[in-house]
Amino acid sequence: MRIHILKDYEEVSTKAASVVSSQIILKPNSVLGLATGSTPLGMYQKLVEMYNDQMVGFSEVITFNLDEYLGLNPEHPQSYNYYMYNNLFNKVNLSEDRINIPSGDIDKLEEFCKEYDQKIDRAGGIDLQVLGIGTNGHIGFNEPDHILKTGTHVVELAQETIEANSRFFDSLDEVPRRAISMGMSSIMRAKKILLLASGENKAEAIKRTISGEITTEVPASLLQLHPDVTVVVDKKAAKLIG
Ligand code: GLP
Repeated sequence: MRIHILKDYEEVSTKAASVVSSQIILKPNSVLGLATGSTPLGMYQKLVEMYNDQMVGFSEVITFNLDEYLGLNPEHPQSYNYYMYNNLFNKVNLSEDRINIPSGDIDKLEEFCKEYDQKIDRAGGIDLQVLGIGTNGHIGFNEPDHILKTGTHVVELAQETIEANSRFFDSLDEVPRRAISMGMSSIMRAKKILLLASGENKAEAIKRTISGEITTEVPASLLQLHPDVTVVVDKKAAKLIG
């Protein structure tokens, strides 16, 4: 793992955008795995700025998003579809047929999950997977458990995740209890991984990710087994790794 400890969220976002844009510049038809949540917001803003300044283009890029809440339709302001279209897809030259993101209102879930993994394979696999991290060490929505799922699957969200994500909803009751998420092998098969974290509330998860035992109880700790992971964190998230 390469670990970059930067001053603050702004620097994390700049670094993350430069990793993603370099990937696209070196390989214009890159397959990107994308994450949502508050952490990559600054990175998306910077990528949009770079696109507007004609420093990077997305015309050949293919994207696969990590996850989505079940029960929220794509127009719901807290859906990850809404987030992605608002923060990136509608702002750059990425055509609809190159965007892949699970929808929260699909009926045939099992079929969808299988097809999603096959689609990633047909695209040649993910070149660069961007990840945030939950306070409990989850990545995507792969929650701590005694076993982890390999492919894209339906998840019952952990109470800690429901509580952490309730800040985006009017009440705790409105937070969906289920989600669809890429599995651990979908993530681990990416050629490169970029893990981002900011803030003191992520310090414990970051410590357990990079220096703790590898355990399914901290899904991000499995990233220690991946040959090409870049971790970009601010000082607060790096507090416990010195
Ligand atoms: C969410 C998402 C993750 C995200 C994480 C952290 O539940 N499913 O993909 O990385 O939680 O979110 P945030 O960046 O808002 O702290």
